[in-house]
Amino acid sequence: MTASAEQPLLAIDAVGKRFGGVIALDDVSFSVGAHSVVGLIGPNGSGKTTLLNVINGVFAADHGEVRLSGIRIDRKRSCELAATGLTRTFQAARVFRTLAVRQNLFIPLLHQSALDRTAASARANELLELVGLTKHAESIASEISGGQQRLLEFARALVSRPRLVLMDEPFAGVHPQIKTLLVRCIRDSVAREGTSFIIVSHEVPDLVAMSDFMVCLVEGRTAATGSPATVIQNERVIEGYLGRA
Ligand SMILES: Nc1ncnc2c1ncn2[C@@H]1O[C@H](COP(=O)(O)OP(=O)(O)O)[C@@H](O)[C@H]1O
Ligand SMILES: [Mg+2]
Repeated sequence: MTASAEQPLLAIDAVGKRFGGVIALDDVSFSVGAHSVVGLIGPNGSGKTTLLNVINGVFAADHGEVRLSGIRIDRKRSCELAATGLTRTFQAARVFRTLAVRQNLFIPLLHQSALDRTAASARANELLELVGLTKHAESIASEISGGQQRLLEFARALVSRPRLVLMDEPFAGVHPQIKTLLVRCIRDSVAREGTSFIIVSHEVPDLVAMSDFMVCLVEGRTAATGSPATVIQNERVIEGYLGRA
């Protein structure tokens, strides 16, 4: 995070979310700085996906606030959030399967009233190159591999030059080569475009290597926040997550 004393890019403040009798999030607070990677870990069912869903407006929080550059976003709908600079990838990659790979990249730009087609096309080409899909640009998305669909979903999340991208288990079930490429693309996006990421993953060594800041949820609570080294050595994290068989 969040080295600066200035306003963080994203501030999550005492967020709570309950589903019937299940407390999915219990007073979760942390912040995300500009051009940084936050690794979000925790056992299955600890509230990671619910938190991403609250941040991007799929669920309303029961209490607490989420602010992006100081502006409350926890009452906004998902479709309004892309315009504020927040995008998302999913646990199972979502692409428009019947559209060509290149066409997938234009979808997030269609809401722009004064779409500059030349600039959009250049941006699409740049991202296709970045994720190694240039030669598949005209293929129908359902015909490329699952790993390539994940890369396509990632490229689509970046096309509008978001300030923050939420990624839910991007490395789960992907070939190591695709994982390496995704990690490189995330780093590239942070370094060249100043994008920030919240990345949920069980691949703890990878997350430690790429995160500036980590958060561990256990049973909906923030068990630890801080540098990757301090979080993975934290007793609550070891007991509640890492030490579990
Ligand atoms: N839409 C939902 N309806 C009811 N319960 C839910 C819903 N989404 C998540 N939960 C519950 O909230 C808790 C946290 O789930 P989730 O955020 O998916 O955890 P994680 O992503 O860390 O595995 C779990 O107990 C889960 O069953
Ligand atoms: Mg999840």
